[in-house]
Amino acid sequence: MRALNVAIIGGGTVGCGVYQALQRNGTLMAARIGTALKVRHVVVRKKRKRRSVAIPSEVLTTDWESAIRDPEVQIVVELIGGTTTARRVVETALRLKKPVITANKALLSAHGKSLFGLAARHQVGLYYEASVAGGIPIIKALRESLVGNRFTQIYGILNGTCNYILTRMESGGEPFDEVLLDAQRRGYAEAEASLDIDGLDAMHKAGLIASIAHGFWVPPRAIHVEGIGGISVLDIEFAEKLGYRIRLLATICPCGERSSVSASKPRIQVSVCPTLIPKSHVLASVNGVFNAVYVNGDVVGETLFYGQGAGQDATASAVLSDVADAALDLASSSPARVAPFQPYASGSDVIPWKEVVSEYYMRLSVVDKPGTMAQIATVLAEEGIGISSIVQPEGHEGGIGPLILMIHDATTGIIQHATKRISRLKVVKGKPQLIRVEHFH
Ligand code: NAP
Ligand code: HSE
Repeated sequence: MRALNVAIIGGGTVGCGVYQALQRNGTLMAARIGTALKVRHVVVRKKRKRRSVAIPSEVLTTDWESAIRDPEVQIVVELIGGTTTARRVVETALRLKKPVITANKALLSAHGKSLFGLAARHQVGLYYEASVAGGIPIIKALRESLVGNRFTQIYGILNGTCNYILTRMESGGEPFDEVLLDAQRRGYAEAEASLDIDGLDAMHKAGLIASIAHGFWVPPRAIHVEGIGGISVLDIEFAEKLGYRIRLLATICPCGERSSVSASKPRIQVSVCPTLIPKSHVLASVNGVFNAVYVNGDVVGETLFYGQGAGQDATASAVLSDVADAALDLASSSPARVAPFQPYASGSDVIPWKEVVSEYYMRLSVVDKPGTMAQIATVLAEEGIGISSIVQPEGHEGGIGPLILMIHDATTGIIQHATKRISRLKVVKGKPQLIRVEHFH
């Protein structure tokens, strides 16, 4: 049987997962793809570090360059993370015409356009299934299985760490920091956890999905992003009472009649922000480290992809699928079957956030006295914003208490302006909380 050697650059959570899964299922994979896969090198920073799997010392090395240049290595798997050494790893391998598999969405978000170009110029594969939504095969689904569709709606819960934190806050009201530590212990969080919490990791993934789905490169600077750091247990409880759950939602939707701006080419909303989702919607039931991507295609209709969005084994599964693709592509001795990313929609654009039309949840701390509501309602009316419902819990007469307003569709810029005006009213204390509401129409 044909055999190929693999260099795994990075022996941490995912790297150990890939090594272990190949030990467990390598024979099965060989039978399925007609190629035996052997791990020749696992590159790490510290050889003596304790790892979750036993890797023979002759396989472990700290020299990534020699591992990639080893003439016996045909496939390179980049799993070190970050955007500096990882970029050099990927570029070095591609220039040697060795196919690269990466789970590194931060790298692809920052340098994907040039790396995909490099892969195309060298006619070698660059595979990245594990970079989006962990074990869910969403990249292949969009590029291959749904290639005959225009995508009318894509919504995703794309960060396992944030979903784990929000769900735990929902069920037990547990402190944010403790749940984050737990997510880190479980290997879900990025080395730099602010990438998760601030929504940047989900933004990297949303940009990749948007680019594949709509055929133009969506750079990170075009994507509106908000993290979950400002979400309090109070918001989670009010959302629950109003019939919603809060999730960090990526929205990748062409703006049609919902946008106040008409354009010859549909502009795409690409955003990542905490969002109130009706409890009856399937995405509201996505809990813990699970991710889900809801895709509506004009031919296929509604589809839903669901699975573990982070963690050792789920991510290893996605990496192995790419290793198999790379092995099959090498066996076919043709250039990479498909370019890693195929741009075809020049002139398309991302709609600026201020022009996006949405419903909103607004939570204010107000002085509970006659006339307060009238002042707030006056500002909203002057801005042309409608209120769909108001909740003001009893028991705060004369003191300060919460006031929740559910706000009808309006452009985000107008809502933000109105919120600023409201925050300046004497009867309003502290910073207003504004969270998007999505009804998936
Ligand atoms: P990790 O646990 O921090 O592992 C990183 C590994 O890379 C470690 O083995 C480290 O060596 C090694 N390394 C780092 N810099 C190096 C360098 N300059 N030279 C040689 N080795 C180096 O990270 P991870 O969680 O496995 O994540 C790896 C990648 O997968 C990241 O891009 C991440 O975004 C992505 N990803 C992770 C998950 C997940 O659930 N964790 C899911 C999807 C995608 P030492 O062990 O000696 O420190
Ligand atoms: N830190 C990421 C997450 C890993 O929590 O989703 C998977 O990409």
